[in-house]
This record gives sequence, structure tokens and C-alpha cells, in this order.
Amino acid sequence: MLIEVPNVLSRDQVVHFRKALDKTEWVDGKVTAGFQSAQVKNNMQLSENNLVAKDLGQQILDAVENSPLFVAAALPAKIFPPLFNRYQGGQAFGNHVDNSVRRAASTRKYVRTDLSVTLFLSEPEEYEGGELIIDDTYGEHSIKLPAGHLILYPSTSLHRLRPVTSGARVSSFFWLQSMIRRDAHRSLLLNLDIAIQKLHQEVPGSTTAVDLTGIYQNLLREWVEV
Ligand code: NI
Repeated sequence: MLIEVPNVLSRDQVVHFRKALDKTEWVDGKVTAGFQSAQVKNNMQLSENNLVAKDLGQQILDAVENSPLFVAAALPAKIFPPLFNRYQGGQAFGNHVDNSVRRAASTRKYVRTDLSVTLFLSEPEEYEGGELIIDDTYGEHSIKLPAGHLILYPSTSLHRLRPVTSGARVSSFFWLQSMIRRDAHRSLLLNLDIAIQKLHQEVPGSTTAVDLTGIYQNLLREWVEV
């Protein structure tokens, strides 16, 4: 399931991020690519040890951990420290599936990549092309979101980034290991969670909502890995 989480960063935060990113040093994006990905990847990134990347990355982690929709949709167990990329002048990233396991330089801990995240830092009007194309069983999805919004998608998906033909596309991207490994289970839990929230609003004090919350917790307990 693809899930859009709007307004993870405020406009002011995006402005601050962009200023800091403009001033720092960018390197060839092949540094974090696997062997197959490196053949189709053409962009610029910040190195994992870049201090600006570490600082902004921490701000992103704080923001997503405070986003009820992000937490409900991802049920994160471990989050890889956010990375940053920039595409311009025709740069693109061809078809690939993200590496299944990542090891962060800072923590030396392994993260199984259940979900991939792209947080947009450029407004759609700032660049031509640059759509993130994600294939799933329902077909092809073209994603280009306002700055400060993010998309969550299963890391098992084949995806690519169309060439950026004018302007520049700046974003943050990262992966996470979910407490719920299977996408289908995670989707069921999210849909149940949303339905319970709706019931709370429609029928304040609903005892059925209490029963359903119990079922949510017991399903989570059945499937959780921490
Ligand atoms: Ni990718």
C-alpha cells in the first residue's frame, strides 16, 4: 500500500532545510547504491557522515515520530537515518528494488527495509519531470508531492525516478523496519485503526470502539516483531 503523509515538515522548516542543504557539500549518489542500482543511478547525495545531513535527519525523525498517520501506517521498529538527494540537468534513477538490508554508518545496526520513504523538499513547480514512479499490483503510480509531504511505499516495489529536465528536485529518503513485517498485515491494521478513529468521532463514548480497539491490539500482538 502507498500512503501519503502530508505536512510532515512546516513551510518554515522546509525553507530552513533548503538553505542548509544549498550550503553543504554534495557527492555522487552511487555511494549508497548496490551493484545493480549503481548502473542506473545518476544523482547527487550528502554523505552519511555530513553534519548537516545528521542534523536535518534528526529533525525529520522527530517530525515523523510525532505524526500520528506516519506512526499508524508504518508502525516503525527501526528507522535508518535519513539521507538526502538532488536531481538536476537530466539526472534520473532507473528501475530498481531497494536493498533488503541496510547498515547505518552511525549506529552500525542492521535495518531490514520493509518500507521506503521519500520526503519532498522541492515544490512541484520548481522542476520539470522527476516523478517517482512506483509499480505495484494495481499498476504504475506517479508521485510528485508538495514540499514537506512524504510518501511511504513497500520496499519490495520496483520503482524509478523520471529525468529532471529543468530545475532541481531535492528530497530526503530513508527506510524503516516495521514492527509488522508483512505489507498486507500492516494495511489491515491501518484500516482498522482509521475505522476506529471514525467510530470515536461518529459515536462519542462508543463501547464498540473499545471492543474494536481490543481486537486491534490483539492482532498487533499476534504479528508484532520488536
Ligand atoms: Ni530506490
